Amino acid sequence: MSETILVTGGTGVLGRQVARRLLAPGREVRVLSRRAAPAATPYAWRTGDLRSHDGIDAAVRGADVIVHCATTLGGKDVATTKALLDTARRHDTPHLVFISIVGVDRIPLPYYRAKLAAEEAVVASGLPWTILRATQFHDLVCRLVEVQRFLPVVLYPAGFRVQPVDAGEVAARLADLALGEPAGRAPDLGGPEVRDFADLARASLRGKGRRRALVPVPFPGATGRAYRAGHHLTPNATGRVTFEEFLAAQAAIA
Ligand SMILES: NC(=O)c1ccc[n+]([C@@H]2O[C@H](COP(=O)([O-])OP(=O)(O)OC[C@H]3O[C@@H](n4cnc5c(N)ncnc54)[C@H](OP(=O)(O)O)[C@@H]3O)[C@@H](O)[C@H]2O)c1
Repeated sequence: MSETILVTGGTGVLGRQVARRLLAPGREVRVLSRRAAPAATPYAWRTGDLRSHDGIDAAVRGADVIVHCATTLGGKDVATTKALLDTARRHDTPHLVFISIVGVDRIPLPYYRAKLAAEEAVVASGLPWTILRATQFHDLVCRLVEVQRFLPVVLYPAGFRVQPVDAGEVAARLADLALGEPAGRAPDLGGPEVRDFADLARASLRGKGRRRALVPVPFPGATGRAYRAGHHLTPNATGRVTFEEFLAAQAAIA
């Protein structure tokens, strides 16, 4: 059993579920966050910032495994991942478990390009590594609808299908991978259904008791074509929790 595991992004949608699953007697689970530790936490909290590098050395030192779930927008994921890898190499060469996204190698979205470059940095790091690619989380679909709550309509990319997966299932897979031997590229993890985005947006609105017209917006260019071609989907539909089951679970805890 690994004794000390660091979860970067351990406060995020995915990372907090990974950290929770890793808690076990005799194991130190560290959570890296830019925020100060909450008043009560079951984790060995490490305040640090992967962009400024503040606190990263102390977070990484002594870790047997790092589950890297932190993400930053604006193409910074390469620099932050490299900073983490460099620090890890200077210490105890921990097993680096990295979460990525299905299609990062085929969809030329800037965020995906950064993610792919971060994957490549992990592979070239010399550290023992595991990479899991997952499809979009159910939460993300809801967030994309929710950010438009002040608009009279919900805009969505025309012709888009999504294969949303439960972040809890991705977290469970990542936790298993973190406790196992370095696996290289693990089999992709996709949700159980491929659905039209509009269909999911409608379900999400219904779940919130709201009604809005849905308006398709063309998504031109290579990125739009790559999404319409389904490069973000996977035949490995091993996730079990459907979008409606996710919504029902959210409603139950609200
Ligand atoms: N969302 C999806 O649909 C999806 C699908 C497949 C893969 N993924 C991947 O899964 C990972 C997690 O996604 P998520 O949706 O759970 O992310 P999220 O909820 O947005 O959480 C982002 C996390 O990153 C941390 N973070 C941000 N900037 C940081 C910095 N400079 N230094 C240290 N920590 C920093 C945040 O911690 P603090 O704010 O506490 O500092 C937070 O815990 C990402 O790598 C993403 O690419 C996501």
